[in-house]
Amino acid sequence: MSTPSRVAVITGASSGIGEATARALHSAGDTVVLLARRTDRLEALAVELGEQALAIPADVTDRDSLVAAAERVQTELGGADILVNNAGVMLLGPFSAEQRDDYRQMIEVNLLGAITTTEVFLEQLKTGGAGDIITISSVAGRTARAGNGVYAATKWGINGWSESLRQELLPDIRVTLIEPGVVATELPDHITHAQTKQAIGEMYGNATVTPEDIAEVIAFTLARPRHLAINEILLRPADQR
Ligand SMILES: NC(=O)c1ccc[n+]([C@@H]2O[C@H](COP(=O)([O-])OP(=O)(O)OC[C@H]3O[C@@H](n4cnc5c(N)ncnc54)[C@H](OP(=O)(O)O)[C@@H]3O)[C@@H](O)[C@H]2O)c1
Repeated sequence: MSTPSRVAVITGASSGIGEATARALHSAGDTVVLLARRTDRLEALAVELGEQALAIPADVTDRDSLVAAAERVQTELGGADILVNNAGVMLLGPFSAEQRDDYRQMIEVNLLGAITTTEVFLEQLKTGGAGDIITISSVAGRTARAGNGVYAATKWGINGWSESLRQELLPDIRVTLIEPGVVATELPDHITHAQTKQAIGEMYGNATVTPEDIAEVIAFTLARPRHLAINEILLRPADQR
């Protein structure tokens, strides 16, 4: 007996962990909805995946664009079963007034963006009584370090919010936190503080864990039978301190 196709909405699907997750869930037979701002990358991925892939440009800091996306998912696909809150930015640097635009962006994307996306898709996820919300947090949601204060604050914040949501939404919606260590993606490329960008860029240049490694864990989590909820996974490269 084949598993019925689920509709999975993935934010930040234009690169890195989100793109790999879209590929993994599509391979598992799910219909994937690709959300991000870079339309060209989303459309190229949707074309490559072929059937059961829909690209919808959306900015998680713009609630209207999320509402428009949710309306399309409802109309064209009958609603979402899975939401992967993955969109994020990591604009690291020493705490100073010069970084204040970066701080605001991290809070708006990583924290408010995930909360708003969930709020907008929640009714769809509840319909059918078998939803899943996966949120990509970080090791930085468990361990703060010098230079990552606001990034860590967004990830600590999302951890608390996700646990509260888990208790509110059980048993019909399973809520899961994924907390990766260093993963080889373009995440550090957007850092504005030059010295930090160089140091973190070197660390990411040597990263051994791939976005596909994380996507496989997400696909495994979603494939568990409905009576089992994996609530939290903390995962690091084997050599990460
Ligand atoms: N790589 C790591 O080491 C690592 C470790 C722990 C946690 N994480 C988390 O994993 C998640 C994915 O990051 P990644 O490593 O895969 O990096 P990435 O390749 O840079 O992916 C980030 C994604 O977020 C999207 N995004 C950024 N701002 C957005 C906005 N305002 N609206 C919609 N989408 C937006 C980007 O798409 P557009 O630019 O096209 O909008 C992109 O697809 C993030 O939450 C990150 O904090 C990563």
